Amino acid sequence: MPSLPLPSKFEELVPVDVPDAQWWRQAVVYQVYPRSFYDLDGNGLGDIRGITEKVPYLKELGIDAVWLSPFYPSELADGGYDVADYRDVAPELGTLADFDEMTAALHEAGIRVVVDIVPNHTSDQHVWFKEAVNSPKGSPARNRYIFRDSRIDEDGNEQIPSDWISMFGGPQWDQLADGQWYLHTFAPEQPDLNWDNPEVREEFEDVLAFWSDRGVDGFRIDVAHSLVKDQAVIFGPDPLPTWAEMEKLPWDGTHPVWDRDEVHDVYRGWRKVFDRYDPPRVAVAEAWVEDPQRRAKYASIEGLGQTFNFDLLRADFHAPQFKEIIDHNLELAARADSSTTWVLSNHDVIRHATRYGLPDLLEGEESVVGQKWLLDGGSLADVDVEQGNRRADATTMLLLALPGATYLYQGEELGLHEVGDIADADRQDPTFFRSPGVDIGRDGCRVPLPWVADAQGYGFGSETPHFPQPTWFADHAVDVEDRDPHSTLNLYRQALSLRKRLLTEERLTWEETGSEDVLQFVRPNGWRVIMNFSKDAVDLPDGDLLLSSRPLEDGRLPGETTAWLLDA
Ligand code: GLC
Repeated sequence: MPSLPLPSKFEELVPVDVPDAQWWRQAVVYQVYPRSFYDLDGNGLGDIRGITEKVPYLKELGIDAVWLSPFYPSELADGGYDVADYRDVAPELGTLADFDEMTAALHEAGIRVVVDIVPNHTSDQHVWFKEAVNSPKGSPARNRYIFRDSRIDEDGNEQIPSDWISMFGGPQWDQLADGQWYLHTFAPEQPDLNWDNPEVREEFEDVLAFWSDRGVDGFRIDVAHSLVKDQAVIFGPDPLPTWAEMEKLPWDGTHPVWDRDEVHDVYRGWRKVFDRYDPPRVAVAEAWVEDPQRRAKYASIEGLGQTFNFDLLRADFHAPQFKEIIDHNLELAARADSSTTWVLSNHDVIRHATRYGLPDLLEGEESVVGQKWLLDGGSLADVDVEQGNRRADATTMLLLALPGATYLYQGEELGLHEVGDIADADRQDPTFFRSPGVDIGRDGCRVPLPWVADAQGYGFGSETPHFPQPTWFADHAVDVEDRDPHSTLNLYRQALSLRKRLLTEERLTWEETGSEDVLQFVRPNGWRVIMNFSKDAVDLPDGDLLLSSRPLEDGRLPGETTAWLLDA
C-alpha cells in the first residue's frame, strides 16, 4: 500500500530492548531454498554467491535472519535433505569460502544466519554409509545405521523385516547384496542413523561446532522428533510390530520410532555446544508432534529452545480457529519459557496464497488444503487467485503482529502461487515417484524465483532453470512488484519496517469486536491489530492507522483485510 503519514506517537515509540542472546524470540526469519533463490553462475541452480548478491534485497525487505535449506553436497534424492557431507558446500552451489563471504555480507547487513541440520539420516553417498555397505554384518561401520537381518516366515523363507511404509511411500527397508536390510524413514537414499551409537552423537556435536565456528547463528533441526528409536524393538530378536500395530501406538514417549523421550538427551548435549558461544547459538525444531505438551518439550531451554508450530498452516481461514490456535501456542511457548513460531508456507507445503484461493478442507479430508487440487491437475485457473492473495496478505499482517517469531518462505513476499501443473517429466520430489498417483509432491513451491519480468528465466540467472517457470511468474517478478505501491512486496517491506519500531513485550490482549469473524487485539505499547475474516467491510477501532493489507473503503476495513493502528 502507498505509505500512510505516520503519527508523531509512532516516531516516539521506543522498541523493546532485545538482548543479543534473545534475538530469535521475535525474529522474522526468511527461508531460502538455495537451489531456487538466485543463480549467479548461470548453471541452472541457485547458489551461495547468488544469496550474497541479493543481500541488499533481503536487507530492504527488513528480515532479521535467513534460514538456508540444505546447501551441502547431495545427490538430490530429496532436494538436498540427503546430505553427503555435513561440513561442505555442494560444488554446484559454491565453496566454503563463498559461504563465509555470504555470512559476512549478511551479518554486515544486520541479518543472522540459520542453517539446516539433517540428523535423522545421511545420504547413501555419505562416506559412513559407503563404508557400511562395504563392511560386514555386525561391524562398527554398520552400527552407525540401523541394519537388521531378514525376518524368517513360517515356511522358513526370508522376508523384509517389517511391512513399514516410508514417509515418501514404498517400503521402509532396503536390502544390501549380503542380505541385510537398512531402515530409511524417508527415501532409500536416506538411511537412518543409529542415535544410540556415541560416535553418531559426537559427530553431530562436532558438525554444530563446525558451523558455529564459522559464525552461523542458529540451526533448524530437520525431523527433530525421529532420531532416537527403541533399541530393544529395532535391534532386538523379536519380530517388529506390523504397520497396522505401529499406527495404533500412542506417541507418549514410548513409541518405538517417533518422539521418544530419549531424544531430549541428544538435545541436552547440543545445548552444551550452543552455550559455548556468545551469543549462544539457537535452534528451532521441526517436530510434527500432535500432542502440544510433548511438542513443547523440544522448545525447552535445556534443549533446542524453540519449536515450529505448524497449526496455522493447517487451519481454515476461520477466525475462531485462528484465535484458539494463537492462544494455545502462546501459552505453550510461555510454559517452555520459549517463544512460538508462526508459519504459513515452507518448502514442504503448498504455497499459502494458493491454499487460501481454494475451498477449505472438506469434511473427512485429513491432509493440508490443496492436495485434491494438485491431483486434479493443479491449474491456477481453478484457484481464486484474488481471494488467495487477499487472504494471504491479511494473514501475514496478523502473524507479523503476534508475539513470537515469524518464518517466511522465499517468494511469499511476492505473493507467489504454487506451480501445481509441473509436467511429470520435470518433477524431482521423491514423493511423486514413490507414491504414483497419490502424492504429487512438493516441487510446486520450489520453482526458481522471478526477479525480472522480461528477462530470460525471469532474471533467475539461468537460461534453463532447474524447474521450468510458468509465464504468470512475470506478474510477480521483483522488478514489477518493486514499482507497484500496491504490491505484496511493498506491503511486506512496509510491515517489516513498521514492526521493527513496534516490537514490544511478548503479550497481547484480545478485544471484543461483536463479530465472530473479526479478531482484534492490542499489544502492550498500544499497537492495535484488527483482522476481518468476513467478506463485508467493518468499522475500524479508534487509533491512528499505520497500515492495512488492502485500502480502506469509505474509511471502513474491507472484507478479508488486516489493519494495524496505534493508540492516539
Ligand atoms: C523434513 C524436510 C523435508 C524432508 C524431510 C526428510 O520434513 O522439511 O523437506 O524431505 O525432512 O529429510
